[in-house]
Amino acid sequence: MTLYRLDASIRVDGSASGELADIVEQEWLAAHPGDTVVRRHLGTNPIPADAWPLAAFAGYTPEQDRSPEQRQAVALAATLVDELLAADAIVLAVPLYNFGVSQHFKTWVDMVITDPRMAAGAQPILAGKPAVLVTVRGGNYQPGTPREGWDHATGWMRRILADVWHLDLKVVQAEFTLVGVNPALDQFRDLGRQLRQEAEEQARRHGRALGAAVPSAMAA
Ligand SMILES: Cc1cc2nc3c(=O)[nH]c(=O)nc-3n(C[C@H](O)[C@H](O)[C@H](O)COP(=O)(O)O)c2cc1C
Repeated sequence: MTLYRLDASIRVDGSASGELADIVEQEWLAAHPGDTVVRRHLGTNPIPADAWPLAAFAGYTPEQDRSPEQRQAVALAATLVDELLAADAIVLAVPLYNFGVSQHFKTWVDMVITDPRMAAGAQPILAGKPAVLVTVRGGNYQPGTPREGWDHATGWMRRILADVWHLDLKVVQAEFTLVGVNPALDQFRDLGRQLRQEAEEQARRHGRALGAAVPSAMAA
């Protein structure tokens, strides 16, 4: 069995999304001791920004007329899709940046969608595959907070992963990860601790469910 883990934090140390994904991964490994975790870290190893236009326009270019750069981009997109297809379960750890989706994650999604197997109208080849999305936000966007509605990333990620790709998606959401980092948020220390504990519990619960999930190919 294989767990595919994708990280998008631009940090290597002290990443809250990484730590929550660690919990999910540990729970999955507890159910599948010795099995494989395949990793891709978009923060430290980003997909080049020009790969997407190259791959996208290669799709409109007859194969024999494609440039070497287009061929390379098409091959990279195919590799990304192969990684998803080979996985029995998926965990994605993606922070909120500037009220929107991480550009590294967006480029990854855009690249995946250029592959003909993932194009609009194609059979949803990832349908039913169990996945956990870990999202972390420095602020607090819960209902009733002053910035409710300012997170323009999570809704989009749910749309792509669950509604477009048809993954069997669970979401771990952590708020206020900047409490203890940004002194302006010091008044929220207790709430920050509580929200962190709740996110860790959510990560444990969804990690256990990911470990217990039977991939649809095996269930059939
Ligand atoms: C450049 C940058 C922009 C950020 N923009 C936001 C933002 O718009 N809203 C927010 O709540 N947090 C924002 N944050 C905070 C991150 O979401 C928070 O630090 C999160 O924990 C980062 O993920 P990581 O801990 O996995 O690295 C930003 C952080 C950075 C570095």
